[in-house]
Amino acid sequence: MRKTTLITGGAGYIGSHTALALINAGHHVLVLDNLCNSCRESIARLEQLTQTRVDFINGDIRDSILLDSIFSRYDIDAVVHFASLKSVEESVRKPLDYYANNVAGTLNLCRAMVRNDVFRLVFSSSATVYGEPVRTPIAEDFGTGKPVNPYGRTKLMIEELLTDLADSDPRWSIGLLRYFNPIGAHESGMIGEDPNGRPNNLLPCLTQVAIGRMPELTVYGCDYPTVDGTCVRDYIHVVDLAIGHLKALQVLRHNTGINFWNLGTGIGYSVLQIIHSFEDITGITIPYHFAPRRVGDIAKCWADPSKAGRELGWSAQRDLEQMIIDTWRWQSCNPQGYQSSFEIPALTALTAAK
Ligand code: NAD
Ligand code: UD1
Repeated sequence: MRKTTLITGGAGYIGSHTALALINAGHHVLVLDNLCNSCRESIARLEQLTQTRVDFINGDIRDSILLDSIFSRYDIDAVVHFASLKSVEESVRKPLDYYANNVAGTLNLCRAMVRNDVFRLVFSSSATVYGEPVRTPIAEDFGTGKPVNPYGRTKLMIEELLTDLADSDPRWSIGLLRYFNPIGAHESGMIGEDPNGRPNNLLPCLTQVAIGRMPELTVYGCDYPTVDGTCVRDYIHVVDLAIGHLKALQVLRHNTGINFWNLGTGIGYSVLQIIHSFEDITGITIPYHFAPRRVGDIAKCWADPSKAGRELGWSAQRDLEQMIIDTWRWQSCNPQGYQSSFEIPALTALTAAK
């Protein structure tokens, strides 16, 4: 059997880009996803892009029997764990769903890994674990803060759970990747972010205004202590983020214990700078209006990514212009996300990967 990397949540936005990066680097991957926030079409697009059959199981990380059957059928030597609910707003309304899916789901996954002697894990964490930072840029040694919503607290709880686990048994090699603000899409325009329902994040909202699915962009807050009064964030291209996972998997072959890495560019842009860059690059005017500050937003957040540079040999390569070009290519080629038709060749034409 070939060594296989299990990717939970691999049909989703960041997971599908990471699956592509791993396959292109020669990994054999198995995607496990219950499709609660994604669809089978992203896997079909991956198959077209890689010209290989991608092993996919429609299932849940909370299903122990399924996990044991996966570990017995495949020679899994590492897990990249994306599967999670991720809407901040929904997490406030349905905290139990978030703790059950994200925290209990991760616990269940780790138990299955222990039962099956798999100890290399990369986990999708978030800059949200820093809470309100004391200063910027944010470095890993600032320590974690107080996330302001249940979603953020699930990420912090999982980080603590995984830290305790790594301390308990020297066989574990765990990488906690703290993402800043992922945007962009693969340069092919074939895979990208396709949020269910009304989006909350800035770039999906902005592109939906640009294609006419939303009339106007709401800019939350114009009185922050920033360059132009709007919030500043560290936007990172999803393909750079995906490559960060590849590097982490490599380094975790010899770095045991718990490892924390910020994945960001180190550069912050305000909401207005993003809107104006988008307008300059695409030639499309974005109607917007100011609204009061959004609850839970912090004024400024950008990374010190130098630890990932030193320890992973990783740094973001794609600038804001590239992020906007690729975001817009994805959205304009797929105005209805994965529901949009895209020429996919018959699966029989693809070479089997195994
Ligand atoms: P996404 O919703 O596109 O992908 C998550 C995938 O997990 C989805 O395909 C969903 O169907 C699947 N999933 C959820 N619960 C599952 C379960 N119990 N069993 C199996 N599959 C399940 O989200 P994304 O943007 O790709 O985020 C991936 C990870 O990165 C998540 O853990 C998220 O919290 C984290 N993260 C995302 C961002 C961001 O801005 N996108 C920022 C920081 C951290
Ligand atoms: C948000 C979450 C964070 C999560 C991350 C990725 C909050 C408070 N934080 O981060 O926990 O890890 O998404 O899912 O929700 N904005 C507008 N108009 C919009 C949308 C956004 O002005 O329609 C502004 C926001 O106020 C913010 C900036 O754009 O200042 C970025 O927002 P967003 O993309 O939602 O990311 P974060 O708030 O940084």
